[in-house]
Amino acid sequence: MNTILSKQRLSAEVFRMEIEAKEIAEARKPGQFIILQMGGDFGERIPLTIADADPVKGSITLIFQAVGETTHRLALFEVGDTIENLLGPLGKPTDIKKYGKVVCVGGGIGVAPLFPIVQGMKRAGNEVKVIMGARNKDLLIMEEDMKATADEVIVVTDDGSYGRKALVTEPLKELCEQYKPDCVVIIGPPIMMKFAALTTKPYGIHTIVSLNTIMIDGTGMCGGCRVTIGGKTKFVCVDGPEFDGHQVDWDNMLLRLGTYKSKEQEAHHRCHIGMHIKEGEA
Ligand SMILES: Cc1cc2nc3c(=O)[nH]c(=O)nc-3n(C[C@H](O)[C@H](O)[C@H](O)COP(=O)(O)OP(=O)(O)OC[C@H]3O[C@@H](n4cnc5c(N)ncnc54)[C@H](O)[C@@H]3O)c2cc1C
Ligand code: FES
Repeated sequence: MNTILSKQRLSAEVFRMEIEAKEIAEARKPGQFIILQMGGDFGERIPLTIADADPVKGSITLIFQAVGETTHRLALFEVGDTIENLLGPLGKPTDIKKYGKVVCVGGGIGVAPLFPIVQGMKRAGNEVKVIMGARNKDLLIMEEDMKATADEVIVVTDDGSYGRKALVTEPLKELCEQYKPDCVVIIGPPIMMKFAALTTKPYGIHTIVSLNTIMIDGTGMCGGCRVTIGGKTKFVCVDGPEFDGHQVDWDNMLLRLGTYKSKEQEAHHRCHIGMHIKEGEA
């Protein structure tokens, strides 16, 4: 049982939760994640990145977007409530070292898992520039955290409601040409990662992406998270979640992600209504 120590709403659908988890807090490294299961009914297990950890306090921080059934249920939890199962830290840590010039690109909720990597890359002595994008101003998260950590932060929104009106690929292309980074780290929706990785490819820049596939057991047994990397089958839970962005078979990954779309949309609709009723009552 893991107790929720604090809860904050970062935007309409994004929440930050600090959860008691001493052993995970002591062991985790940037890039790693946990698998969470709510209720004791062997229900859905979902992966969430460990956005931060406090080994002294024995807590980890999760930042999640309420997109479907489990994340909506989690969003309704309050301080003092307990989560049945937290498994982690899982996955390989990010290859953090001194590259020289690093550009970190975050899209939507991808900004949350990107944050510990930005911190790690800075600590390793890199110059770090961040490009963060959101559909609109209200969906932008962690701008202050990023500004306090990175050397430069470029904010873009799809609709121009804040920062520059552009997709992340636009400033990324400019930085590839003018700043010439040694490494680019991209985390966001799969379609964004695909096009951002295609942007860095002609420049031959080492590009790391963090894949957000469906996961079930998180141990390499179920095959749910399988992807094709450089023509070979890999499992995101044990071989990743980070891979060379130029080696990922994006079209195959996007196809597999679409498999349960109609069921997820149904669950999203149901839970979304529940969350907003609760919000109205509060
Ligand atoms: C390694 C990893 C780290 C992640 N870190 C974060 C994070 O820090 N914050 C965050 O908000 N999200 C993160 N995600 C995505 C998160 O796991 C999904 O949003 C969550 O599983 C959705 O569950 P749901 O039941 O609420 O929604 P569903 O109704 O099941 O699905 C809604 C959307 O989530 C995707 N999804 C569904 N089930 C899974 C699953 N088991 N694994 C991955 N994606 C799924 C679907 O493709 C769909 O687009 C991460 C995913 C991975 C693989
Ligand atoms: S989640 Fe089952 S193999 Fe990766």
